[in-house]
Amino acid sequence: MTLYEMIDKRRSVRKYIDALPDDDTVDKIERFIENTRQLPGQNAWFEIVPSQSVSAAVGAYGILAYCEAGDAAYANVGYVLQKTDLYIQSLGLGSLWLGMGKPKAKDKRDDFCILLAFGKTDVPLRNGASDFQRLPIERISNEDNAIARSARLAPSAQNSQPWELRFEEDKVIVRYVGRGMFKRMLKKKLNKIDLGIVTRHVALALRNEGKDVRSVTAKSDADGFGIEVRWRAARDKT
Ligand SMILES: Cc1cc2nc3c(=O)[nH]c(=O)nc-3n(C[C@H](O)[C@H](O)[C@H](O)COP(=O)(O)O)c2cc1C
Repeated sequence: MTLYEMIDKRRSVRKYIDALPDDDTVDKIERFIENTRQLPGQNAWFEIVPSQSVSAAVGAYGILAYCEAGDAAYANVGYVLQKTDLYIQSLGLGSLWLGMGKPKAKDKRDDFCILLAFGKTDVPLRNGASDFQRLPIERISNEDNAIARSARLAPSAQNSQPWELRFEEDKVIVRYVGRGMFKRMLKKKLNKIDLGIVTRHVALALRNEGKDVRSVTAKSDADGFGIEVRWRAARDKT
């Protein structure tokens, strides 16, 4: 299954089998992260550790993401690790974003951003878009199209879905909008990670539609924080 096809199959997995994924698989995941391009100017770093070395022991391993402080840096981590989340589930494993987890070692906490846990599971994938609890498309987008439908299924902290998509000629702007009971608590970091996550779904869906993604740019302006994704039709390249 392609990563795009995983978008309406993946889920947050909270129940794991007591067995380790094999070392080859863990190596593959490590290489996948290394080979994933980060947003311009961003340099997050990642390590895979046994789940016993993080405060919330879920699954067999945790991917610890580290970055500088800042909205664009947090969004970048979401953008990189959501591709990894889809990849992990395409390998038949389960995964879970864990805003509540952190490294047990205090000296690792300074630049720590977020944790993605993974491991073996027997929880099945979802059957399709109707299995998701999400806001209706008109609450999150000015257009109902395949890109917005993929964005709608993105995971977010507390399922807060803190985004709005505005489609314009050859670009879409994914803008932060606080939602839900915990919006003040989530606003600083977790919702910015969420914006990177949803942008990954947007980029995969654009490619699936035959569009060349030309740039993905995090921006803060008078309207607040957002990510602009520009494309051109792949056929225009000649
Ligand atoms: C940044 C982020 C942090 C999250 N933190 C937690 C967490 O600490 N505990 C948890 O059980 N789920 C956590 N989740 C999972 C969300 O609750 C889940 O993605 C959302 O409810 C949608 O469900 P789904 O992923 O199954 O589609 C987190 C998700 C994201 C994106």
